[in-house]
Amino acid sequence: MTKTVFNRNKVDFTKQYMFFGEDQNTQRYDVFRYPEYDKLNQTMLGYFWRPEEVSLQKDRGDYAEFTDAQKHIFTSNLKYQTLLDSVQGRGPCLNFLPYCSNPELESCIVCWDFQETIHSRSYTHIVKNVYADPAEVFDTILDDKEIIARAESVSREYDKFYDMAVNFFHKGKGSEYEVKKQLYKAMMVVNILEGLRFYVSFACTFAFGELKKMEGSAKIISLIARDEATHLNLSTHILKHWAKGDDDPDFVKIAEECKEESYEMWKTCVEEEKRWADYLFEKGSIVGLNANLLHAYVEFIANKRLKALGLEPIYDRPLTTNPLPWTQHWLSSSGLQVAPQETEIESYIIGGVKQDVDEKTFEGFQL
Ligand SMILES: [Fe+2]
Ligand SMILES: [Fe+2]
Repeated sequence: MTKTVFNRNKVDFTKQYMFFGEDQNTQRYDVFRYPEYDKLNQTMLGYFWRPEEVSLQKDRGDYAEFTDAQKHIFTSNLKYQTLLDSVQGRGPCLNFLPYCSNPELESCIVCWDFQETIHSRSYTHIVKNVYADPAEVFDTILDDKEIIARAESVSREYDKFYDMAVNFFHKGKGSEYEVKKQLYKAMMVVNILEGLRFYVSFACTFAFGELKKMEGSAKIISLIARDEATHLNLSTHILKHWAKGDDDPDFVKIAEECKEESYEMWKTCVEEEKRWADYLFEKGSIVGLNANLLHAYVEFIANKRLKALGLEPIYDRPLTTNPLPWTQHWLSSSGLQVAPQETEIESYIIGGVKQDVDEKTFEGFQL
């Protein structure tokens, strides 16, 4: 298969599958096969923000006064997110974009990846402002066995897909069906990363924020979390379209064949995240958060995500009782709009506008 940036054929892209169809030509956003991807794209564009908008002056002082246990929790968590978001900063463009054959999804994937670069810049902003020597954090990430183990389990399925796709489409080796199956698994891993693993990390930073410590960092992480919610929404939609059969019919079979493996992937991730929680709190807990609470939270989030995918929740835990209810305040956009005088936080959301106003929105409205 040769790829082209300008497919001369007239193709009706509203009839193309999301992946592995004809190469694209005109990037048009007037007719859609999947209008929800365009909506998501508009939301992502409206969320544009920069980490430099948030002051970390107070965070530096907070960190200096931390106990060893608090430093271990904050720094390990930050290192982990830096590496995982770096992996995720490459993944969508390197793996998904070349094979995407739907204009609105293509645009979403580019935006998705772009937001990941903002996230990586955020970690640098935090590291440069909180630590006397940024190298102390960056240069030691690859020495942390706990972090590497989890980064490897994320990147394995991505890399496998990359190899299989290159082998099939460029060297004529293997089968297209197997390539599609691997894409399904890579998409599931991404869903798990952005829907479960990241939420464990978010909770740790928000716990400091709840104590009025590292509030600038917590604010930045809440902006990252807002972006991640759109990414999670995107991969959830892709996986659901495949399973429901309103895209390439091969994926209906693949979703069924991969069902057991998908549950195993979720279970393995939950176990890895629980081990991570034990590691984080091995030197001591912080007020409001400890290893046991984080274990419960991991199971609660996993159940919620499985249900959203149309799979069965696997943990004996109600979907309605959040073991860490205070995380909700940091995860909802409205929670971000605190009055500046209420806290030390000094930034405001730029461009976080609703995009769903149409001609009927103001019907019946009189001045
Ligand atoms: Fe990210
Ligand atoms: Fe993401």
